[in-house]
Amino acid sequence: MKALVILGSPRVNMNTDTLLNKVIKGLQSQNVEVEKIILSRLKFEPCIACDVCAETGHCYKQDDLTSIYDKFNNSDIIVVGSPMYFNSVTAITKAMVDRCQSFWSSKYKLNQSSIDRNRKRKGMFVGVGGAKYTNLEKGFIGATVVMELFFRATNTEYMYNMLVDNTDEIFVGDREEILKEAYEMGVKLAKN
Ligand SMILES: Cc1cc2nc3c(=O)[nH]c(=O)nc-3n(C[C@H](O)[C@H](O)[C@H](O)COP(=O)(O)O)c2cc1C
Repeated sequence: MKALVILGSPRVNMNTDTLLNKVIKGLQSQNVEVEKIILSRLKFEPCIACDVCAETGHCYKQDDLTSIYDKFNNSDIIVVGSPMYFNSVTAITKAMVDRCQSFWSSKYKLNQSSIDRNRKRKGMFVGVGGAKYTNLEKGFIGATVVMELFFRATNTEYMYNMLVDNTDEIFVGDREEILKEAYEMGVKLAKN
């Protein structure tokens, strides 16, 4: 099995990245081949709604995101990690999601999907919030609704969320229970 793991935080080695690295370890323990993408290191433009993809099924832009479409297509597992920024995913994560409009257009406008719909994909979102939320699910809703549509566009079953709050107070690297949970989520994602 192949997994694509996408870091949507601009901060490498901080909370989101630390959790993703544990998820990766869990996946690798089950012999999953993992490719990690650090979005902040890529140069890419946001979707400009040119609608070329509604005619061709593909995004015409040639930049560092161009290769990601094949990577989605060839993955069995997709994991996206993002901190909460103003109650949603980060701008780089959202820009990547918006560029998946070509998957949506190819399916709903062209009736000729540019992603292999016969391949089963499993999806997981890792969300991190600096604030302490009274209700985790509600607190992360601005991100999870985005992920819901993203996973639908990439023909991926949205299986799990791992939502962690209070990261501005306590670094996840100091929370053994949570690190263990992230590893186990990786194992679970590979197995189920
Ligand atoms: C521009 C910006 C907006 C933020 N908005 C929120 C927010 O709406 N809710 C929240 O809980 N934390 C918010 N935070 C805090 C981050 O979610 C928190 O610092 C998180 O740990 C960052 O993830 P990282 O450590 O992986 O980079 C915001 C931080 C920044 C820089």
